[in-house]
Amino acid sequence: MIEFKHVNKVYPNGVKGLSDINLTIDQGEFVAIIGLSGAGKSTLIRTINRMIDVTDGQLVVDGTDVMTLSGASMRKYRRKVGMIFQSYNLVTRATALRNVLTSMVPDMPFHRVLLGLFSEEQKKKALEALDKVGILDKAYTRCDQLSGGQQQRVSLARTLNQNPTIILADEPVAALDPVTAHQVMADFRRINQEMNITVLINIHHVDLALQYCSRVIGIRAGQIVYDGPTTSVTQEILDEIYGGATVPTAGT
Ligand SMILES: Nc1ncnc2c1ncn2[C@@H]1O[C@H](COP(=O)(O)OP(=O)(O)O)[C@@H](O)[C@H]1O
Ligand SMILES: [Mg+2]
Repeated sequence: MIEFKHVNKVYPNGVKGLSDINLTIDQGEFVAIIGLSGAGKSTLIRTINRMIDVTDGQLVVDGTDVMTLSGASMRKYRRKVGMIFQSYNLVTRATALRNVLTSMVPDMPFHRVLLGLFSEEQKKKALEALDKVGILDKAYTRCDQLSGGQQQRVSLARTLNQNPTIILADEPVAALDPVTAHQVMADFRRINQEMNITVLINIHHVDLALQYCSRVIGIRAGQIVYDGPTTSVTQEILDEIYGGATVPTAGT
């Protein structure tokens, strides 16, 4: 369970990224975070894995105040919280399998990493992760030979391979064409449902959020202006989240 209690984030330049955020997210939820550019979506999800530290308030994950973590406890925590970016963050000259194997590096002696000495068991597990996202046949293909959608799936497999309980995704489909964006959203939904992993996804395109996620959090200027089931989102609510601007959609 993820709990935000009166969380504020003020950047050093005085910009208020988050303002009195109160949230409870249960294990296994699939949550979309929507809002205009600059609303605070990235700030919100990046506080969860402490890429960004909150200014005040409390952030509690599975009973632990994450601001108290450091050193080994922080590394252990970060392994549980997978992060997916718009830009995939892969080593593009390496194969899909090799990229997935790199998520095991923190558990390995350094010389084995340098020599690429991954065990058969590690390889089996990495191949299973690639299979989960439907690209087992690309295991030995260099990532620079893969399409954007396939690269995002490699990124997802790499995250799955670290056995996360939470996946944070910051605009993971923003760079993809609409058809591929739908496929990757379906992957997230399947993983969420089959593995009971909590998924929090920042998403620009509202139609994708409404089609795939079960809960929507709308933020505007660092504040939550809607939090509820996808099925209860109305045009009026979208107008409030987007300040009456055109609501961005991916189309089909
Ligand atoms: N490192 C930073 N320093 C100062 N201001 C920042 C920083 N990162 C984000 N901001 C500001 O915080 C607000 C929220 O940004 P962000 O969370 O990136 O929004 P979103 O992801 O919804 O586009 C914006 O006004 C942005 O300019
Ligand atoms: Mg952002």
